[in-house]
Amino acid sequence: MSNRLNVAPNDLSAFWMPFTANRQFKQAPRMLVAAKDMHYTASDGRKVLDGTAGLWCVNAGHCRPKITEAIQRQAAELDYAPAFQMGHPFAFELANRLVDIAPEGMDHVFFTNSGSESVETALKIALAYHRVRGDGSRTRLIGRERGYHGVNFGGISVGGIVTNRKMFGTLLGGVDHLPHTHLPAKNAFSRGVPEHGAELADELERIVALHDASTIAAVIVEPMAGSTGVLIPPKGYLQRLRDICTKHGILLIFDEVITGFGRLGTPFAADYFGVTPDIITTAKGVTNGVIPMGAVFVKKEIHDAFMTGPEHLIEFFHGYTYSGNPIASAAGIATLDTYKEEGLLTRGAELAPYFEEALHSLKDARHVIDIRNIGLVGAIELQPLEGQPTKRAFTAFLKAFEKGVLIRTTGDIIALSPPLIVEKEHIDQIVGCIRDVLKEID
Ligand SMILES: Cc1ncc(COP(=O)(O)O)c(C=O)c1O
Repeated sequence: MSNRLNVAPNDLSAFWMPFTANRQFKQAPRMLVAAKDMHYTASDGRKVLDGTAGLWCVNAGHCRPKITEAIQRQAAELDYAPAFQMGHPFAFELANRLVDIAPEGMDHVFFTNSGSESVETALKIALAYHRVRGDGSRTRLIGRERGYHGVNFGGISVGGIVTNRKMFGTLLGGVDHLPHTHLPAKNAFSRGVPEHGAELADELERIVALHDASTIAAVIVEPMAGSTGVLIPPKGYLQRLRDICTKHGILLIFDEVITGFGRLGTPFAADYFGVTPDIITTAKGVTNGVIPMGAVFVKKEIHDAFMTGPEHLIEFFHGYTYSGNPIASAAGIATLDTYKEEGLLTRGAELAPYFEEALHSLKDARHVIDIRNIGLVGAIELQPLEGQPTKRAFTAFLKAFEKGVLIRTTGDIIALSPPLIVEKEHIDQIVGCIRDVLKEID
């Protein structure tokens, strides 16, 4: 490993980096060259504590031996097999293992390669489901303001983050949005699930009254909105959404790309809130972030609605070259083994109270206007610099990295989501670092 340190590529210009301030980065690159458990190693040899599980994905921590070995073995044994009209055992085994930990009734899995693809897949399943049942007028999709559902056209259409939408034309037609659930005037500094705002779910009734239920296929929400800055649903909100969807025959999709696989201290957010949707989208933690893979869970009734007609015909015209790829499947199985052996799908619940206390100790730190937490997710919202939104949090991110802690920021919100193997001393280090950074920055 050591011979890889300090080796910087000669030229950084060819790689157009995703969701990155490219010019800023390339002037002062932040390169990671190795990782183990809770830490990255930066190209200058420094250890950097991972406060974000990569991008909310490395739930079991980095370079876990079982996962590494499974990938190595699989690459040498069966590197690729077509997923269309052919199979290999690992994808089936992984699907079964996933169904075993999924909420009751989620009996089938469709494999993708990312969260964005899981979202597109879920939206297409919802539309096609109504059509195969002879209810093809249900074509509208309802998302939510400030929602993040990846970057493909379906996802940005139902999503509600303006910067992700405004450059890309008219997007999908027939989409409407629920209001977001962020009510700082009432819920600021809530610990866990906030008290106020369940009635915001009733906005779905207004949308139904406007368009008529017979035109609406599905509602998609993140049970906890992560990428927009950790917006935790108010008490009772998701149950109301569920009830209204059920009443009107609308499918409810939970986008659990972040919340799936133990992030809230339960296997899925659906378990945490006790609300079961009709479809769940996942990715990231399904392979511990190591190999691209996503999985869409669907209820039996939805899957079975497609299983009609002549048996030699394809039931659902959708899929990816890499759906259920052997190496990704092997990584997924080893990931689930690791989660199980170490109790990681529920470990967050044990640590959540400590994490909450630590985060809320920053209440009186400079610039802080709100703190939110749930499971092993936290957000510290900063007062934006006058006329320069996002700059204060971005400076905090740069400073924290210098001090050896990786945090993530969106807008002026610092978001934390450490690997689920995090220990109390790591939490103390992350929070201590943020406290120091806030003292130093304007
Ligand atoms: C809720 C949610 N949906 C979808 C996505 C997109 O996932 P990907 O970047 O793997 O396409 C993300 C990514 O953060 C997400 O948080």
